[in-house]
Amino acid sequence: MTSLEIAQRSKVRESAASNARALELIEKAKVPTLPAVAVRTAQLASDPEAKTAEIVSLVSSDPSLTARVLKLVNSAYYAVPRGVSDVRRAVSYLGLDTLHQLVLTVAVVRALPRLRDGSPLDAGRLWQHALATALLARDIGRRQRLPVEELFTGGLLHDIGKIISACADPEGFARACDDARERDISLFDAERARDGRGPRADHEQVGRVAARRWRLPPRLVACIGFHHAASGRGAVSLIGDQRTAALVVGAADYIARYAGFGDGCSTNVGEPSEGLLEEVRVRGGELDLLAARLPNELARWKSFLELLHDPA
Ligand SMILES: [Fe+2]
Ligand SMILES: [Fe+2]
Repeated sequence: MTSLEIAQRSKVRESAASNARALELIEKAKVPTLPAVAVRTAQLASDPEAKTAEIVSLVSSDPSLTARVLKLVNSAYYAVPRGVSDVRRAVSYLGLDTLHQLVLTVAVVRALPRLRDGSPLDAGRLWQHALATALLARDIGRRQRLPVEELFTGGLLHDIGKIISACADPEGFARACDDARERDISLFDAERARDGRGPRADHEQVGRVAARRWRLPPRLVACIGFHHAASGRGAVSLIGDQRTAALVVGAADYIARYAGFGDGCSTNVGEPSEGLLEEVRVRGGELDLLAARLPNELARWKSFLELLHDPA
């Protein structure tokens, strides 16, 4: 066997062990499957033969999901005049695409474990980072031929692996956060650093395994599962618009941290991976422009952010 073959085999073993660890964390955090309504809505929304009435009645058949979705729709940002009290009216204002993205967002956020007081992960900082990433992903995504509402969802959900890891293994997660701060590296790099305690799974892997188990649409899986790796060699399995979506969210994640809206675990901003910003058509001076606009944008989404915090 050549040294290249040996290296490849050990990489496969390593990633199988990390995936098994990711699954172990998901099971330990008791992450449930998504409600059938959310999975079916995603399937119907991507089916050109599906009728709006069918999707409206499907979503309406789950009253607690519907109530939550309508709260998001009525949050200040969407600002539908006089508000909406039923799914049909929400669709007529926002369109099916936005409705199905909101259904997926609500379903995923409710399926996530709750961070306890004293958790090494600050839920407020994390959701603010997620929303900043979502707003930037939608903005940058307008330059690509991709559905921007899906990129918004991808940005919102990209770091859910952190919530699962912080709940399932608070000590291990706290160690990674301490490590990131002490060595001034990103949390992702700290998670991947080896410390001799057996296989580790970083938040991207944990999110990827969870997103696949939830049967989320492929571009969303890419945003969650490859937002750090898309521009590196780690994402060889990604092609076409899945890769583009992951790159857009990866760039948005970087710009959010650059603008001071990180997750609170690490203050390291570092450099974007080589060629990342160019690939998503963010040019030199634009980085500061996008970062400068962010605080005002976030302020307009305050009530939406509060609803993410409280998914009950
Ligand atoms: Fe991340
Ligand atoms: Fe992030």
